[in-house]
Amino acid sequence: MWGGRFAAGPSAIMREINASIPFDKALWRQDIAASKAHVAMLGAQGIVSAEDARTIAEGLDRIAAEYEANGVSENLDLEDIHMVTESRLAELIGPAAGRLHTARSRNDQVATDFRLWVRDACEQVEAGLVELQRALVTRAGEHADSVMPGFTHLQAAQPVTLGHHLLAYYEMIRRDRSRFADARARMDECPLGSAALAGTGFPLDRDATANALGFARPTANSLDAVSDRDFALDYLQAAAQCALHLSRLAEELILWASQPFGFVRLPDALSTGSSIMPQKKNPDAAELVRGHAGRIIGCLTSLMVTMKGLPLAYSKDMQDDKPPVFEAHGLLGLSIAAMTGMIADATFRTDRMRAAAELGYATATDLADWLVREADVPFREAHHITGSAVKLAESKGVALDALSLDQLREIDPRIDQRVFGALSVDSSVAVRASYGGTAPVRVREQVAAARQALDMES
Ligand code: ARG
Repeated sequence: MWGGRFAAGPSAIMREINASIPFDKALWRQDIAASKAHVAMLGAQGIVSAEDARTIAEGLDRIAAEYEANGVSENLDLEDIHMVTESRLAELIGPAAGRLHTARSRNDQVATDFRLWVRDACEQVEAGLVELQRALVTRAGEHADSVMPGFTHLQAAQPVTLGHHLLAYYEMIRRDRSRFADARARMDECPLGSAALAGTGFPLDRDATANALGFARPTANSLDAVSDRDFALDYLQAAAQCALHLSRLAEELILWASQPFGFVRLPDALSTGSSIMPQKKNPDAAELVRGHAGRIIGCLTSLMVTMKGLPLAYSKDMQDDKPPVFEAHGLLGLSIAAMTGMIADATFRTDRMRAAAELGYATATDLADWLVREADVPFREAHHITGSAVKLAESKGVALDALSLDQLREIDPRIDQRVFGALSVDSSVAVRASYGGTAPVRVREQVAAARQALDMES
């Protein structure tokens, strides 16, 4: 493609280090679509003849059919998907093929193809996240009343409902979806027509190509358009954040599936056994979701470091933009699917959760709140009184509500019989009915709102 200036061809090493076809062949659909949009515009503008434009478009269609049927062959002499397609076009239609690259460069071509690919990727992730949200909301609805310990510092803190806990992840995924939607909206500008870096002297219609490829508008600065990879970084940032959320959920499932917790049985279909210990059922899928988050964050780091020192405009370093995005997208898609399956089919052991919530003095705050509400004790003092009650219960090895009224009144005479109504885990969650709180009534409202937002009502 550029032999005119050279006396010798590239060495084998040069061919190998230079080639991106092993990975950028994944862009073939986008490459064909962008070339078809470009040549249709060249024809409409009279930059190439109508007949050449038609011949080229037909050739591109044939090549697409070949790729569909046989895949894209990797020939390292033809560096990338753009060259493979153009050289095949020349084989099919002869010299007219040489007119396709008029007023275009691989720099604006690759920027356009990759944007199209990442735009699709955002949509695929969004669709997967909706399924995960549906699973979370369905299970949250089933468990609006199921009591479990809520933790801070991984120490029993206050009882919460399992539904509330699952909806916390619904919220994280809701924000993740908005990040992908936001990234998608920001990348909705078409670089095609920026040419190598400076624009072109040919009378292009950039609105036409942008429109044909479903972009909102053409990019406004040719230098920026060919050197910008923000769209890929936006995708990776959203992916890293999302993977981080999935990893936290995975970590909780791993903990909950362990024998000391025993809060959940994960589906057999997403677990593995041990070759030596017959009793084992390992939460491998969850562990790999946790592990993949590390790799996805690595992909983001990789591209940020690649981009950070590059002068305008295109530099070949930028060819390394694709592998981390492709890798992250594959890992994220699998992670979302695995997590959706685990949430949908997990067996939550609500008896174990309830028993754990009843241990650990998780309703101590309720005793303090009762003193504030019913006996007008300042909270700090109520906190102190409750601490003494916990100390006494602990020394006797019993739960708070197993202390007798006399024992409690010895600590503070303002306590009366009604306090026992406040010390159960059920009353503890029921009373936390502030907006956004864990009370079953609030959880049911949030489930209904989420179902409506996800269009799950039917
Ligand atoms: N294979 C290249 C890439 O993926 C295409 C752009 C090459 N442009 C150039 N001027 N060498 O980045």
